[in-house]
Amino acid sequence: MTFELPPLPYPTDALEPHLSRETLEFHHGKHHASYVKALNHLVRGTRFAGRSLAEIIQTSGPGRLRDNAAQHYNHGFYWNCLEPSGGEKPNGALGEKIRAEFGSVDRLARRFAAVATAQFGSGWAWLVVNADGSLGVEASTNADTPVRTGRTPLLVCDVWEHAYYIDYRNDRGKYVKAFWDLVNWDFVARNLTAVDGVAAVAVAN
Ligand code: FE2
Repeated sequence: MTFELPPLPYPTDALEPHLSRETLEFHHGKHHASYVKALNHLVRGTRFAGRSLAEIIQTSGPGRLRDNAAQHYNHGFYWNCLEPSGGEKPNGALGEKIRAEFGSVDRLARRFAAVATAQFGSGWAWLVVNADGSLGVEASTNADTPVRTGRTPLLVCDVWEHAYYIDYRNDRGKYVKAFWDLVNWDFVARNLTAVDGVAAVAVAN
């Protein structure tokens, strides 16, 4: 079994003007693709061949194999967090939970933006379900992912420079604001009802 680069859930120009076609072509077609290629190379002939992506992330230990597996997972998750007509405020059970725990969606947005912009260097900003069922906003460094510790991610923003440098240069804050206007809240809501951290994720694993 080999891992495959999943197609984007939308055309490469669908997120303009927030994220350009050039950004998506490079981010998906070059960066994400390179993680998949490296993952397949590193897993071949090892005891992890044939294992699921989540299993590799959770059991392989620190190193290039785990990093590339996690980057494949994180990017597949990220693409699904976005949609051209995103940004509508969440409703239903997800909206109620956000308002109960953060006070309002806008307060969550401010917390998320603060965590995303404060992450030093490359990484990811997440909305997750904690072990006690509460919601949490946190950053991870480089390739790390909440899936490694078996927690359920709901939403992620890629804050590696390759995610925004073409469109926003060094202005990560502006990118994060644009990201929020693209959030696919239906995907986030589906993750809230997922049995585990990968159940709702359309990645090839
Ligand atoms: Fe990325």
